[in-house]
Amino acid sequence: MSHNTFGHLFRVTTFGESHGPAIGCVVDGCPPGLPLREDDIQRELERRRPGQSRFTTQRQEPDAVRILSGVFADDAGQQVTTGTPIGLMIGNVDQRSKDYGDIKDKYRPGHADFTYDMKYGIRDFRGGGRSSARETAMRVAAGAIARKVIPGVTIRAALVQMGPEAIDRSRWDWDEVDRNPFFCPDAKKAAFYEGYLDAIRKDGSSVGAVIEVVAEGVPAGWGAPIYGKLDADIAAAMMSINAVKGVEIGAGMAAAILRGEENADEMRLSNDGAIRFSNNNAGGILGGISSGQPIVARFAVKPTSSILTPRATIDRYGNETEILTKGRHDPCVGIRAVPVAEAMMAIVLADHFLRHRGQTGR
Ligand SMILES: Cc1cc2nc3c(=O)[nH]c(=O)nc-3n(C[C@H](O)[C@H](O)[C@H](O)COP(=O)(O)O)c2cc1C
Repeated sequence: MSHNTFGHLFRVTTFGESHGPAIGCVVDGCPPGLPLREDDIQRELERRRPGQSRFTTQRQEPDAVRILSGVFADDAGQQVTTGTPIGLMIGNVDQRSKDYGDIKDKYRPGHADFTYDMKYGIRDFRGGGRSSARETAMRVAAGAIARKVIPGVTIRAALVQMGPEAIDRSRWDWDEVDRNPFFCPDAKKAAFYEGYLDAIRKDGSSVGAVIEVVAEGVPAGWGAPIYGKLDADIAAAMMSINAVKGVEIGAGMAAAILRGEENADEMRLSNDGAIRFSNNNAGGILGGISSGQPIVARFAVKPTSSILTPRATIDRYGNETEILTKGRHDPCVGIRAVPVAEAMMAIVLADHFLRHRGQTGR
């Protein structure tokens, strides 16, 4: 059974574990002729890389990516994609497997230890093995390639809530996102998060977050009806990110409390004939197909389950016991989920662009 591949025409397969020698991916179906250098991918990886602030895990991984295949110099000497599978690899260099010796036979509540053991009867306990979000580095790498397939689309994500503390949306500034360690678009709230998260970290605890992803420049018509809905694929992509427990598109859960006349985004024509919507409760998708409005998805990330506070659990031999996880962990995994969310959105949109072009020729 293989469930490590995402996408149809733009297909990403990842492999590797947290404490194995390397992680990697194969990107298949990428069109030929797109300029692609390791630097292009490295830039994106830098944003997800651990150990960059006291608010993320102190595991020091340079995340240096190597392109193993699928590129060649074109007639002008520029390195471009060839249309063949692109193999990418990142070595794991800062594993500290001994940190996990104490939990070898115990299940961390809230983590995947119990379910992996139930399913496979064997579990790589070092750093969570395959269930570790180390895997998401490869999604970010693949996402960097996906962005090149859809250069007219701008994809940005931001942390909009940490625990119960939401940003003030009237202060939203995209430029702020890369100025603070939280990818937060509200400078004032970001300053507040410093002390807030410090206290949680020092308590040996953790906290959840809400992330918002916005894709602008998607023309009307991408996506498909029924089983190929763009919103369904975006939801699957976001939900596949570690620790994500809820996804919404546009008004999402709040749509349930709106009246029909409030929820339906009214349509008008501008003087130049362009279509104007009064609002974007639909999150840029109607009937599974993009409307030309910005695509907006939001998701909830649960608090990190590996915490220093002792919790009740059982071991693999059926005994009740207690567990606390030493290791190095993000006190709020939602922070580093931000670049991962952008990557997954890029992968879905690149796939749907190719599918749309394949069916309609446009
Ligand atoms: C960027 C990122 C980093 C993460 N780091 C940790 C971590 O350090 N410790 C931990 O317990 N969980 C971490 N997680 C979450 C776990 O990988 C996840 O909870 C686990 O695989 C169980 O899967 P589920 O929560 O999706 O059910 C991280 C998630 C993300 C997105």
